[in-house]
Amino acid sequence: MYFKQILNERCGCASYLIASRQSREAAIVDPSLDTEQYVALLQERDFHLRYVIDTHVHADHISGARQLAAGQGGELCLHAAAQVVYPFRPLCDGEELPLGQLRLRVMHTPGHRPELISILVVNPPRSPEPSMVLTGDSLLVGDVGRPDFGGGDAAAQWQSITRLLQLPDWVAVFPGHFEGPCGKGMCGRPSTTVGFERLYNPLTRLDRGSFVSALTSGQPARPLNMTAIEATNRGVADMPWAMLTSAPPVPEISVDAVESRPPGTMLLDVREPEEYAHGHIPGAVNLPQSDLASRCNDLPQDHPVWIVCQAGLRSRRAAQYLKQMGFEQVVSVQGGTSAWQSAGKPLAVGETRVAGRRVIESEWTHAGAPQE
Ligand SMILES: [Fe+2]
Repeated sequence: MYFKQILNERCGCASYLIASRQSREAAIVDPSLDTEQYVALLQERDFHLRYVIDTHVHADHISGARQLAAGQGGELCLHAAAQVVYPFRPLCDGEELPLGQLRLRVMHTPGHRPELISILVVNPPRSPEPSMVLTGDSLLVGDVGRPDFGGGDAAAQWQSITRLLQLPDWVAVFPGHFEGPCGKGMCGRPSTTVGFERLYNPLTRLDRGSFVSALTSGQPARPLNMTAIEATNRGVADMPWAMLTSAPPVPEISVDAVESRPPGTMLLDVREPEEYAHGHIPGAVNLPQSDLASRCNDLPQDHPVWIVCQAGLRSRRAAQYLKQMGFEQVVSVQGGTSAWQSAGKPLAVGETRVAGRRVIESEWTHAGAPQE
């Protein structure tokens, strides 16, 4: 067999090429939009593509699966529950995809998303047992996938993780993310084993109730442009430009300057509605970063747009994204609403307090690696 893990440092995602050296057939799992790298690998190794599998509809990065399947002739596969509008081969729990002497066994492991599957890799000439499992965003290294990316369910995630942990200790685990916004406490290693996670993953030793409250009590903000990315991956929109792919310099200004902003400046608060309702800089308009790409037509190109968040991380990414989209007059407010509050300035409170989950600060609230 041939197996390669391909790490995408920009969005913290892992994709995989699995092939049979005997039949030269290959499967690619969770490809990123940078599909040339897979095509080069197929050519170099003289493999032909039989399957392209998305473990789920991604919400934090745009998938290259359709492009790859169309260009290389592989069968595009997703779980049968995937709510996409393009044709695909629907997979079911327990189904096996032959790949030369190998078998790719589908395990339905919903929780992060309803259609999420894990893929057990079995090599019968070596063993009747699987030697590895690709877990998408179910079991992560030191973490599990968050349940708030569209149709997710923390209790279903508990059940899926419990099921995965019934696999033998030695089974190697290859997740869909090694960093990034899909979890809140990933270890950073790109692989692990079932035995190690059963013993040392802080979530896998919790009972169902504690697991569910750990998953629902506090999560990082939804990623930058999630709405546009998810819609593109479902085929209901075509916004391949919704990823932050550059790091243009953006000016940063202090909270003191916010008070004397030029007339006509839009002060844009890119935090979640819950955070905004709890307290925001007076005059700030709320547009969560998750909706930025889908609503950037609502923003003025001919006036300054000053962006603020909680601590200054999300606002910098959002400003970079708008710069990438051609907005010239964008700035990021350094230190965000926290700095405003620490300077003793008053906050405005939303008329209706939005009850909901607690949003925790994370450097990984965007589909783009942290860079200075
Ligand atoms: Fe995901």
